[in-house]
Amino acid sequence: MEKNVVLVIGNYAPSECDKSRFEEEFLAFFLKTPSEIERLAPSILSKVKGVAFKAHSPQRFAEKQINLLPNLKIIANFGVGFDAIDVAKAKEHGIIVTNTPDVLNDDVADLAVGLMIGVSREFLKGCDWVESAKWRKLGEMPVNTKVSGSKCGILGLGRIGLEVGHRLAAFKCDIHYFSREKKEAPIGWVFQPDPLELAKNVDNLFVCLVGGKETENFVSKTMIDAVGPEGIIINISRGSTIDEGALIEALQSGRLKGAGLDVFQEEPNVDERFLKMNNVLLQPHQGSATVSTRRAMANLQFSNLGNFFSTGSCLTPID
Ligand code: 8YV
Repeated sequence: MEKNVVLVIGNYAPSECDKSRFEEEFLAFFLKTPSEIERLAPSILSKVKGVAFKAHSPQRFAEKQINLLPNLKIIANFGVGFDAIDVAKAKEHGIIVTNTPDVLNDDVADLAVGLMIGVSREFLKGCDWVESAKWRKLGEMPVNTKVSGSKCGILGLGRIGLEVGHRLAAFKCDIHYFSREKKEAPIGWVFQPDPLELAKNVDNLFVCLVGGKETENFVSKTMIDAVGPEGIIINISRGSTIDEGALIEALQSGRLKGAGLDVFQEEPNVDERFLKMNNVLLQPHQGSATVSTRRAMANLQFSNLGNFFSTGSCLTPID
């Protein structure tokens, strides 16, 4: 039987993509970016049925790519967020889109809580205090902010937000959350139907929203000001969810105490103003980037493709 033609697109590390498995199962072509699709011969383009896609901004799997592949049936995304794919266009063309939910919840939540602790306890300053011998010359480092027992707000109580909450509970934090509707959350977690009220009432705000148009700049200047000069914002969702200009101004002027950020509006070209601040802890969008989790994401992506071609259904299609 003829093998299905699949494009494996993205800058995958070896643990994220078992090339030989793709070659065994499919007639696979490996591309670094979606823009390389147009270089393939028309005779190949017309046969492509599946795409295994790993996004890295600014590359998107957009309408242009969809139109180049007239027989495409499935886009299997490597990642839970699928904002780099034009899902509406894919749907119009009857193309199924799958993602890799759940397997990365722990890692992303670990990083979120790590960022909160790192910002509150000023890990970067502490490192510098030791390394530049300030400790010896100036004595003890100034005191900082307690984490355990703080009031924490989770913006978006999806799978990752829930895991962030479970971790915060172990730190005896007071947990408040906003989501479009009240969730079956653990006893004691307070649902706040108004995101602004949530921001006003917490010390640490965790942004765990889905990316995409509907949440663009959801964390506005007003919301940032509501978190205030004693507050910290942690973002492990997408850079697009926060008004980054407003965030920078608030951090520079002391209207916001600090931020822990794994995601940015223009990755990897992080706004240079962040680099001059000492009240931020910045990470290179590494939320899910551990060997075991990336392997699990790779397995799920591969299984989505495999299942689709053998049974017609997928393990984790997006709604
Ligand atoms: C990955 C992510 O960095 O799952 C997501 O939505 O943002 C991350 O896990 C990304 O998918 C890899 O491109």
